[in-house]
Amino acid sequence: MTFVNLLDTIGQTPLVHAPRLSAELGCEIGFKLEYLNPGLSIKDRMVKHIIQQGVREGKIGPDTTIVEGSSGNTAASVAMIAAAMGLRARIVMPEKVSREKVDTVRAYGAEVIMTTTESDPNSPNYYPNVAKRIVESTPNCFYVDQYMNPANTDAHYAITGPELYSQCGGQIDLLVIGVGTGGSATGIGRYFKERDQLKVLGIDTVGSIYTEHFYTGSHGEAAIYKVEGIGEDFIPPIVDFQYIDDFEQVSDKDSFLAGRELARTDGLLLGGSTGSAVAGLKQYLAKKGGAAAAGFKRVVVLSPDSGVKYLSKMYNDDWMREQGWL
Ligand SMILES: Cc1ncc(COP(=O)(O)O)c(C=O)c1O
Repeated sequence: MTFVNLLDTIGQTPLVHAPRLSAELGCEIGFKLEYLNPGLSIKDRMVKHIIQQGVREGKIGPDTTIVEGSSGNTAASVAMIAAAMGLRARIVMPEKVSREKVDTVRAYGAEVIMTTTESDPNSPNYYPNVAKRIVESTPNCFYVDQYMNPANTDAHYAITGPELYSQCGGQIDLLVIGVGTGGSATGIGRYFKERDQLKVLGIDTVGSIYTEHFYTGSHGEAAIYKVEGIGEDFIPPIVDFQYIDDFEQVSDKDSFLAGRELARTDGLLLGGSTGSAVAGLKQYLAKKGGAAAAGFKRVVVLSPDSGVKYLSKMYNDDWMREQGWL
């Protein structure tokens, strides 16, 4: 019998066809199911890459504490990978994060520091600022720093991009990717655009500054929204807009309703940001006069995580009614 290392099970996720959604939108649509990573999201890939790089560079030893600020998925990946490597982890999370995500991080034995949900990146309580203070005051710690660390983008350029390309290389017309740190859109977008002519559609949320910044070069203030993982209140230095052709900004309501519908029509129970991607794709195709008019025959949607992480929110009818969305 051969055992594998937990970290070796990260990646090689399937690209799954959604026949009903494809028929509805008039093009073939596949979802890259990143919830099939062991930490249940795409973030396993970049956290593994960053931590292994830290070990190689001698920045992480047996007594190192791994620190990160995260709205959830990165936190789970850091906590899981730290536990698998016998390391300690300390995670800062904003309180908007779903209960399931907080409990997951604690289940891996990581220390959780909760902070208020802020839309002002200059607020001392803004979760990356809290993480930064912890890093400054904790001896022998390693800061993953997904917003600033170019190794986030490198991981997707070196690993996710080639993997997805070999699954669909040369044959897709549109790649739909939610933009949070921008690591996946920039890394995968760059890998594809160096090889093929295709469009990359970035997905953003109402309340985030990305879309306005992308089209005008400046932006107003951010507002709080409920979708987790995408949209930002500042422009992370690792995001590179040259690999994104267009942005669609999607409301919380449209994101969650699209995610709920996809579970029923195609058996794909995916996270809120995948709902945003589906709703954003619909908005985009409507503006273009439909998939055929735009020349989109094959579309791939990157799906970062599972709906199981949001059973108490977007997949809970009472919660949806409280928001006025059902
Ligand atoms: C659920 C979810 N979707 C999308 C993203 C965006 O990915 P990226 O940070 O690579 O832009 C994240 C990142 O945290 C996420 O957690």
